[in-house]
Amino acid sequence: MNIQIPRGVNDFFENDMNLHMEVVNKLSEIFENYGYGRIKTPIFEDTKLFIRSVGDDTDIVNKEMYTFEDRKGRSLTLRPELTAPVVRSYLENKMYGKLDDFNKFYYYGEAFRYERAQAGRYRQFHQVGVEVFNLSSIAIDIEVISMADSIIKFFDLSDNVKLKINTIGSSKERKEYIKYLKNYFEPHKEELCSDCQNRIETNPLRILDCKKDGHRNIVTNVKPIKDFLDLETNERFISILEYLDNADIQYDVDYKMVRGLDYYNDTVFEFVFKNEDLEFTLIGGGRYDKLISQISQQDIPAFGFGIGVERMILALKSINSDIEKDYSKKIDIYFANLDENRDLEVLEIMNNIRNAGLSCEMNYMNKGIKQCYKKAEELNAIYVVVISDEVRVKNLFTKEETVTSLKEFEEDILKEIEDGN
Ligand code: HAM
Repeated sequence: MNIQIPRGVNDFFENDMNLHMEVVNKLSEIFENYGYGRIKTPIFEDTKLFIRSVGDDTDIVNKEMYTFEDRKGRSLTLRPELTAPVVRSYLENKMYGKLDDFNKFYYYGEAFRYERAQAGRYRQFHQVGVEVFNLSSIAIDIEVISMADSIIKFFDLSDNVKLKINTIGSSKERKEYIKYLKNYFEPHKEELCSDCQNRIETNPLRILDCKKDGHRNIVTNVKPIKDFLDLETNERFISILEYLDNADIQYDVDYKMVRGLDYYNDTVFEFVFKNEDLEFTLIGGGRYDKLISQISQQDIPAFGFGIGVERMILALKSINSDIEKDYSKKIDIYFANLDENRDLEVLEIMNNIRNAGLSCEMNYMNKGIKQCYKKAEELNAIYVVVISDEVRVKNLFTKEETVTSLKEFEEDILKEIEDGN
């Protein structure tokens, strides 16, 4: 039997990878303009990190983690997200210093979730994201959400992406709401899916997040969380909304949005992509002031978001189905050497030109002239250098042709590179 790729994961080829890295590099550039520095953490961590942070009543921890024991019986987990690892590293390396300053980190890397595989939902995917530590002012909520909005605008996705925002208050305030939800859902228990029946006791907020259709009516009539929040929390939220209004950032307040991870408080938000065929959260994040104190002695506020790179690319492809073509291979010079005896001479020239900074490829397989031109076009070459009885250089864009010698061509090209043309 042939061995095949596991379900829910992807191979990436040249054009996919070029586009993927272009997106990652552009996002990195934006993050750096906002003062973020790069951090890279391991792909696996102590399982307890995710149980304590993401929350043991979440789908991610209950059903989706890739957990295994190492040879010494330690429980390790392939990271399902990157926030908890960044927090772990920040604390372990005491990057908070004397706590008289803030830190801004950004990251790019794989995440793993055993989810039902479908378009935009993979078992291995890539996240880029940001985390800010030790800033509790709403200025940072606003700055980070505005930055996410700039990303949507930069990638021209505004027509298909909408910001949804909510406040879920502090854990003290949520306690009252959770009490209310338990009482509200209990009489409807039979109408809920088996997961949500359990959630009435363990984590009724998650019922608001359940995507099963049968729930919709029951969830629609739930009182919004804002009814249970104190004045200060609501005012904080209103100030954020006022800023978004003034900055002309479109949003919908979604009082039922709770997010799929347990560590959030106050502001939560999602940028949701939607077209005729697809709907998914592209960017998700919010404030998580209590997470750090849950896994250490430190009490440090935090705010951040994550973007799925594969989802970003699906969104980009949905508005420009040919986008990958823009990222196909491009070379500068194709050497159509039709005289095998000159291969070594051509190799040496290619070596010099490549080292000077241009890309080249040659007719390694002794193919005929027609196939050489086909290959040069496939590689989007600018010049084809045909080497037979004479040496003919053709610019494939201007169609200009000159007869020269290999030595002269090499000298001209190296000079052009040196002059910066
Ligand atoms: P999340 O909403 O679970 O949040 O994931 C963030 C983004 O990762 C999603 O909006 C989506 O684009 C992408 N994503 C999630 N699951 C999948 C999947 N199975 N396949 C493809 N893409 C996926 C977090 O992970 C938080 N750590 C975000 C955060 C950072 N909050 C504060 N700081």
